[in-house]
Amino acid sequence: MLPFFFFLLLTFSISQALPPPRGFYLNCGSPYTTKLNEINYTSDRGFINVGNTTAIKQKDLLPILSTLRYFPDKSSRKHCYNFPVAKNSKYLIRTTYYYGNFDGKNSPPVFDQIIGGTKWSVVNTSEDYSKGQSSYYEIVVGVPGRTLSVCLAKNAKTLSSPFISALDVQSLEDTMYNSTDLGLYKLSLIARNSFGVDGDMISYPDDQYNRLWQPFSDKKHQTVTSQSSVNPLDFWNIPPAKAFMEGFTVTKGKALELQWPPFPLPATKYYIALYFQDDRSPSPLSWRAFGASINGATFSRKLNVSTNGVMVYSGQWPLSGQTTITLTTAKGSPMGAVINAGEVFQVIPIGGATNISDVTALEDLLESIDEPPVDWSGDPCLPLPNSWTGVTCSKEKINKVISL
Ligand SMILES: *[C@@H]1O[C@H](CO)[C@@H](O)[C@H](O)[C@H]1NC(C)=O
Ligand SMILES: *[C@@H]1O[C@H](CO)[C@@H](O)[C@H](O)[C@H]1NC(C)=O
Ligand SMILES: *[C@@H]1O[C@H](CO)[C@@H](O)[C@H](O)[C@H]1NC(C)=O
Ligand SMILES: *[C@@H]1O[C@H](CO)[C@@H](O)[C@H](O)[C@H]1NC(C)=O
Ligand SMILES: *[C@@H]1O[C@H](CO)[C@@H](O)[C@H](O)[C@H]1NC(C)=O
Ligand SMILES: *[C@@H]1O[C@H](CO)[C@@H](O)[C@H](O)[C@H]1NC(C)=O
Repeated sequence: MLPFFFFLLLTFSISQALPPPRGFYLNCGSPYTTKLNEINYTSDRGFINVGNTTAIKQKDLLPILSTLRYFPDKSSRKHCYNFPVAKNSKYLIRTTYYYGNFDGKNSPPVFDQIIGGTKWSVVNTSEDYSKGQSSYYEIVVGVPGRTLSVCLAKNAKTLSSPFISALDVQSLEDTMYNSTDLGLYKLSLIARNSFGVDGDMISYPDDQYNRLWQPFSDKKHQTVTSQSSVNPLDFWNIPPAKAFMEGFTVTKGKALELQWPPFPLPATKYYIALYFQDDRSPSPLSWRAFGASINGATFSRKLNVSTNGVMVYSGQWPLSGQTTITLTTAKGSPMGAVINAGEVFQVIPIGGATNISDVTALEDLLESIDEPPVDWSGDPCLPLPNSWTGVTCSKEKINKVISL
């Protein structure tokens, strides 16, 4: 998967009377709470009991990046954070990594990240680190049970200790990304951008769910600034109004072509959501009609975008290599096409399930043991290479524990 940067220093927005975001925000490896974008990032101590902690001696580092937890224990099959959650809830998980040469090896480790029983992705922060940037990864998941586990694990390429700098577990509303059955799939973020923006990225409190919308600008496109705000609650994904404030546009009669995401993608299925708003003052005449296609295939034939805004999405769209989005102005439209924001996630099938009664039995056993093996955390069986030490599981559709 592709890491994304965020700048080491961020500007802080002015305090507003907003409800606090719902979730867990961890300043990994630190005993202290630190504030970022109005959110308190607390110590990770209550959520994990393995690993070692250290601090990075570098001036002007964002506080959440200045400490980390790392996992030197080579015998452990996974290292897990566990969160108590409501049954059948939906979360956005963000892992943040800043290597900072904490181990003196001058080479960031490559390792796996795992959610519940599903391998999420490989973490490779080398490229960002060489540019002096941190990396982050995001995934949208459904949690069937009462525990959500986020784990790191070594893989065949891991040469030194896996580590983590910050961990966000953000609660989402039922309607968000609801076209995907999160009982069968997870959505791993590829890109989330606000087009025509040059400045800071958008985050909490502008986005109530603390999603990060990276600015995306280029010299190829004309930009527009909206004269009115959309109501986020008019959209199932509840995008922040600020993501619609700027956009790309094109002269009437021309097609708007956008190479986005701006890097090649592996051939698989993706969730794509595109957001549009007419930028002019609200009036019965403020609308633009156009069609959208992706790599030549029709994505949405007839869009009619007013100042209230529109979202179009596809839950399982095949992409491979470079992506070109083409917006073609419809006959009779008073203005050319416009586009304000977009999100692309890779669709990841869930890695199976472990028999719930077996999980419960093992969890009861775990509670009764004084010093259980350090990797008895997260899913007991899955992913199979990362099962609990000493536990053998059968490879049925629903995994069964067959020996202890
Ligand atoms: C964040 O922490 C400060 C002080 O530690 C506290 O006063 C404030 O209420 C906390 N904010 C939230 C949203 O929990
Ligand atoms: C990590 O912590 C463990 C347990 O506290 C300790 O035994 C070990 O020496 C530490 N490892 C390193 C590399 O500091
Ligand atoms: C990690 O990423 C770097 C830079 O993109 C690449 O050169 C390297 O081969 C990757 N490492 C592994 C083990 O995949
Ligand atoms: C998503 O949520 C909206 C708003 O509640 C609802 O109208 C829609 O049917 C839901 N879609 C799916 C696929 O469940
Ligand atoms: C688009 O919607 C507006 C109302 O917002 C309407 O007046 C206009 O006729 C529609 N255009 C098309 C091409 O459907
Ligand atoms: C889980 O295992 C129990 C006991 O072995 C069995 O009765 C039950 O049918 C299994 N559940 C599923 C969903 O396979």
